[in-house]
Amino acid sequence: MNPSPDVSLVDVDETVLPELLELAKRDASPDEVAPPAGGPGWDLERTGWFLSYHRAAADGLDGPAGEKSWAVLCGGELAGSVRLKQNAAAAVPSAEAGIWLGRSFRSRGIGGAALRLLLAEARRAGVGCVTARTLAGNGAAQLLLASVGGHITPDDDGTVIAVVEL
Ligand SMILES: CC(C)(COP(=O)(O)OP(=O)(O)OC[C@H]1O[C@@H](n2cnc3c(N)ncnc32)[C@H](O)[C@@H]1OP(=O)(O)O)[C@@H](O)C(=O)NCCC(=O)NCCS
Repeated sequence: MNPSPDVSLVDVDETVLPELLELAKRDASPDEVAPPAGGPGWDLERTGWFLSYHRAAADGLDGPAGEKSWAVLCGGELAGSVRLKQNAAAAVPSAEAGIWLGRSFRSRGIGGAALRLLLAEARRAGVGCVTARTLAGNGAAQLLLASVGGHITPDDDGTVIAVVEL
């Protein structure tokens, strides 16, 4: 694995958004990128969700949606996306994280590098604790979350929650 891939985060503006959608459709499963909605593939409902989600998240953690998404670039190429969502119910400033990469960008250290950049963004925004939830069967995501210091606890609904104290 390349120990230091050239990874950066950029805002998902109206130039990046269609390219990110194209990457998601071409190189990821719909359920890795968007919540279950409508039929199995990239129907109009899921595509609509994708576009409105990233547009709403453009305003940042302090915006009306309380969310921020970024596109992940690797060597200048679009590789995937990361996101943060403010957790208003938490006692300490806390946010939930998410990440997906195109299949052709996985297992090269890009996820770890992108997640570390995301944690730095969270720290800059004054967040003290980042959580992430994934399926108990998603070994790659759990290894990734553990590699950035996540403490992983299984839940009784078939998911695990990772908590990273910043
Ligand atoms: C989860 C995901 C982002 C991981 O990204 P990645 O770039 O492949 O991960 P990295 O190459 O940076 O690896 C991070 C760690 O996980 C391990 N890892 C990653 N993929 C692995 C795999 N398929 N099998 C075993 N270990 C794996 C690496 O060895 C590394 O551990 P280390 O730092 O101790 O060496 C990527 O697989 C993905 O996009 N999956 C689909 C969406 C998803 O599941 N998102 C997670 C929701 S929280």
